[in-house]
Amino acid sequence: MDFLTALDPHTTISPAILYFGTPVSLLSTVDEHGHPNLAPNSSLWWLGQNAVIGIGSRSQTAQNLLATGEVVINLPSEHEVDHVDRLALTTGRPEVSARRQAAGYRHVRDKFAQARVTPLDSETVAPPRIAEFPVHVEGVVAKVHPLGGATSPAEADLLAVEVAVTRVHVRESLRLAGHADRIDPERWNPLMLNFQRFFGLGAETRPSRLATIDEEWYRGSSAPIPAG
Ligand SMILES: Cc1cc2nc3c(=O)[nH]c(=O)nc-3n(C[C@H](O)[C@H](O)[C@H](O)COP(=O)(O)O)c2cc1C
Repeated sequence: MDFLTALDPHTTISPAILYFGTPVSLLSTVDEHGHPNLAPNSSLWWLGQNAVIGIGSRSQTAQNLLATGEVVINLPSEHEVDHVDRLALTTGRPEVSARRQAAGYRHVRDKFAQARVTPLDSETVAPPRIAEFPVHVEGVVAKVHPLGGATSPAEADLLAVEVAVTRVHVRESLRLAGHADRIDPERWNPLMLNFQRFFGLGAETRPSRLATIDEEWYRGSSAPIPAG
């Protein structure tokens, strides 16, 4: 046992939330009548050319994903945090449960106006992008996975929504010089949710051995990280 471990021992706790730090997005979707919705989401991860979104099944966004199967994942940097926060405690659903009302939730129909952002046409899907945000990832729903043992999305409280990415737009200023298809991690600073609070990324910590692999090595491969 080293010195630090002896001084700072582990304790068993039972956290009500397990939000240990993930990037924030605003998900843009449309309902079956074409009405757009925006919602903050931080349960998002990437594997190959896919995104997986964790979402409460009763949100307007989940209903739209099930009904129309298209999404834009708009990624903010620290600079766009105010737009994100303006959407907290709002829902596109007209009915708000008593439990949610008690927590401060209310219905907002025009989420673009509420967030003070501008819709921008997408290229491969119907939901609009957010003009003010530096990264837009367009995609189509490939599969909806009910969580918690439910056998259908209608029964589930939580869904993992698998999205096949169809197009990526990034601001010119984020591109890695000399490369057609790369983002410069020195310039891209995702907004992070750490438990219920917003943070940016700190400075780079040390050289990464994974980064010795050329990014193009991953293209067209199903292996997200080198196996064996
Ligand atoms: C910063 C932030 C992150 C959030 N992350 C998630 C999430 O990962 N999954 C989720 O289901 N809800 C998440 N929420 C809550 C939803 O945004 C909330 O349920 C909202 O009412 C959904 O809006 P909608 O009903 O219009 O789709 C988050 C909220 C905020 C402010």
